[in-house]
Order: sequence, then structure tokens, then C-alpha cells
Amino acid sequence: MRRPVIAGNWKMYKTVSESVETALALKPLVANANHCDVVIAPVFTALKTVADRIEGSNIRLSGQDCSTEVEEGAHTGEVAASMLRDVGCSHVIVGHSERRQFYGETDTMVQKKVLAGISMGLNVIMCVGESLGQRDQGIAENVVSGQLTGGLSGLTASDLDRIIVAYEPVWAIGTGRTATPEQAQEMHAFIRRVFAEGHSAEAAQKLRILYGGSVKPDNVAGLMSQDDIDGALVGGASLKADSFAQIVNYSRA
Ligand code: PGA
Repeated sequence: MRRPVIAGNWKMYKTVSESVETALALKPLVANANHCDVVIAPVFTALKTVADRIEGSNIRLSGQDCSTEVEEGAHTGEVAASMLRDVGCSHVIVGHSERRQFYGETDTMVQKKVLAGISMGLNVIMCVGESLGQRDQGIAENVVSGQLTGGLSGLTASDLDRIIVAYEPVWAIGTGRTATPEQAQEMHAFIRRVFAEGHSAEAAQKLRILYGGSVKPDNVAGLMSQDDIDGALVGGASLKADSFAQIVNYSRA
């Protein structure tokens, strides 16, 4: 059995006090969610304060990105994986489609970030996903397998336990247009096959693959009922404690 992960990606929303307010509101609402890992990813500037306020709870903390650089140094604007660890993060999201689309992140950069996160003992949520144009052209699987093999090369067998893949079709992010559970399942099964070929069948069986893209309280159960969907990466609906808590609680199999 793969333990589900429900992760909230707060993107560039919320001040420190708003982040704390949401995290504190979430705490009691998900306190009994023993069936899954509950993760939130506030903005960098709120991480430390939120970490202090959720200490001892079952909510785990994630960065939304990290530097390709492992060592501290002259890299203006960057935040190292070790610094995420330092403020209490257990996870980091890398290769989100917004980073790939708007900030020019390549698979090579994503791969360096994966390795940086792993080397600091973080659980790495690596995002993959095709655009609408790519899906319409019939190349969705090629795009996703390229992102998977590009982003996950150079890992040892023991690193694989800390890799989580998030399949987020770009056309479903923030659009209200979710992939159907069947569409998502098809791609998740494909991702598991590619992972098995690149690593091992055993590691592929253990790999948690999250779906992301307009996940809401009313569609999470249908998605989670699919064999290869092991959780969700939630944007918009994670910004409010009650809707995120509903997603967490409805993700129970
Ligand atoms: P959304 O975002 O749930 O608002 O579609 C998902 C994501 O970008 O991780």
C-alpha cells in the first residue's frame, strides 16, 4: 500500500500572518488524517514562522522550489535546499509547470534541484505535465517521459524512496478543468511504467504519484479511487483551510 500525500501549493499568495492563520485553522481540521501525509507549501518568507506554529502537528512543510546550487554562495535570489531543511521543511516541490513555463526551467535544472533536495534529506515532489497543445498533438506521453527521465537521472536506489512525482497537466492548472479520473489514471500508469524501466519494478510500485490541476473537494474522491493515483498537489483549493481539509479528509480510500 502506498501512503497517500495531499500537498497544498500556496504559490505566491499570503503574507506571513495570513499563512500562519491558514496553517493554524488547518491544524485541528486534519489532526485525525492518519491515512495520508499532509503537506503545505507557503512562500519562502513565511516558512519559518509557519514551521514554529505547526510544530508537533501532523502537517509537514514544503518549499515551493530550491536552488540548483547545493553549497551556499554568491547566488542572489536563490534559496538552497539546506536552508529549507534549516527552517523545518521536510519536502520541496521542483519543476512546477509555472517555473518551467515562466522562468525557463529546463529538465537539466530540474534534475539538479532534485539532487540538491535529495542530498539534503528532503522529500522531493517533482512535477511533470504536458500543455494543451502537446496533448492535442498526441505527444503528451513523450513530453512526460522526457521530463521524468531528464529530471530523475543520476539517482541511487536509496534516493528513490524520497521521490514523489506530481502529474499536473498544464491545461488543468488553475483553469477549473480537471483531467477525468480515467485520463489521469492512464498517465499515472504510464509514469509508473517509465519509472519501472528507468529504475526498477520494485521502486515503481512504491512510487507515490500525485495528480494536480483543479483538484477540489468534489473531485478528489473520484481521482483517488484510481489505482495509480496516490494523492494530490492542490493549488487554489489549498488556500482555504476548510476546502483543503475537505480534500484531505475525502482522500481517504
Ligand atoms: P490548481 O493548481 O489546483 O489551482 O489547479 C495546482 C498546482 O499548480 O499545483
